[in-house]
Amino acid sequence: MYTDCVSIIVIGAGLIGPRHASHVVNRPNARLYAIVDHSAKGPSVAESFGVPLYKNLTEMFEYCDAYNVKYPDAAIIATPNHTHVPLGLHLASKGVHLLVEKPLSPNASDSKTLIDYCNSVNVKLLVGHHRRFNPYIISTKENLSKLGQVIAVQGTWTLRKPDDYFEEKPWRSSKALGGGALLINLIHDLDNLQYLFGPVQRVYAELLLKQRASQLSEESYHEAVDEGAVLTLRFANGICGTFICSDNVTSPFSFEAGTGENPTVPFNETAAGFYRVFGSHGTLSVPDLQLYHQNQESSRSWLNPVQDEQLKMHHESRREVEEEEDQIMFGMPTPSPSPNMKDGNLLFNKSKNSLEKPKPFDLQLDHFVNLVLGKESVVKCSGEDALRALLCIEAVKQSIETGLPQVVPSIDDIDINHELMI
Ligand SMILES: NC(=O)c1ccc[n+]([C@@H]2O[C@H](COP(=O)([O-])OP(=O)(O)OC[C@H]3O[C@@H](n4cnc5c(N)ncnc54)[C@H](O)[C@@H]3O)[C@@H](O)[C@H]2O)c1
Repeated sequence: MYTDCVSIIVIGAGLIGPRHASHVVNRPNARLYAIVDHSAKGPSVAESFGVPLYKNLTEMFEYCDAYNVKYPDAAIIATPNHTHVPLGLHLASKGVHLLVEKPLSPNASDSKTLIDYCNSVNVKLLVGHHRRFNPYIISTKENLSKLGQVIAVQGTWTLRKPDDYFEEKPWRSSKALGGGALLINLIHDLDNLQYLFGPVQRVYAELLLKQRASQLSEESYHEAVDEGAVLTLRFANGICGTFICSDNVTSPFSFEAGTGENPTVPFNETAAGFYRVFGSHGTLSVPDLQLYHQNQESSRSWLNPVQDEQLKMHHESRREVEEEEDQIMFGMPTPSPSPNMKDGNLLFNKSKNSLEKPKPFDLQLDHFVNLVLGKESVVKCSGEDALRALLCIEAVKQSIETGLPQVVPSIDDIDINHELMI
């Protein structure tokens, strides 16, 4: 049905859309078909990639129909949260496969509607929780068995967003349009935690002080978008955790600063332990991958020292195997690993004979293209995965409203929104 090249539109020419577009144009088996955006930024972004611009999907599909042009195979939806579902339904109705930025939408019922609809029309749906593709998270998941029984996890996502982040895009500070740190940011970490430890069953949350709203009346303070929360979590398997999320404190303890994966947020080499995972046999600090342990069963007590060990990154271990194979095959030494652990997050690319950083957005796009081409069938972040993260956020918000712990509902308990169906 498809050639080996996937044509992709990127909808949204704001902060993240152009980043997706640049990954698409750099892929040999993907083609950027067009940019879709109605804002003043649209023309310059489309021009910078040398592709057509459409103001909206209707205009694009009408053009295709009028000139008998093939529709794009796939779309990346990088628009404000409240627009994801209507855009996704429109595209799916035309058979266009979807990579939808997180959160899938601001509400669970609409998200489930899109998931069901995509299933019914055989459209692939991948959601952009790209941290599942980050080598730090992959390495953490691979090393969990070294901890024995995982008992607890502690996490932080704490930094300060600049004021113009909110001033330039009003949706980011609108509850109705899906703004706020919980829906924009905490959802990433809740997806990470569920990816590592399975579904969250119960959550209790307290809202953090809203500093941006300090000039407002009590009513406006309540209406102002959240700046984060502190949570306790209980996973279905009994693991418990705490988490602090704030987009308005001065701190390097966030996924972005700790991993250096986001070009907007400077990498902080010394900030270790934005997650700590505590187990019966050891503790793992993430992203620095320090394992603290007492290996001998007889030595496991406070009476004995705890050893620490620097674990290798997933790609470093793989590269060492490749280097050994090269040496066996050719009797030749290969480039030595980086001395810097953080910069050591490198891939040895045999074809280019050079060291390359693996990029989660590239790995996510690889996976999306493979799904569309039918080369992979298991979706690494499915609509259901994303909906589970969203259900946790809804439980967090309910807990804040009621002051009580909340059970996270199961997907089966969610009704679809029939009004959205086309
Ligand atoms: N994965 C990540 O790390 C990451 C990072 C940032 C943002 N995001 C997500 O990406 C999405 C976009 O965020 P952003 O900060 O780039 O937003 P943004 O406001 O900077 O850009 C959104 C763009 O979409 C356009 N747009 C809005 N509605 C449209 C429509 N119906 N048709 C065509 N264009 C439309 C706007 O004109 C704007 O240019 C959000 O869902 C956000 O949560 C993800």
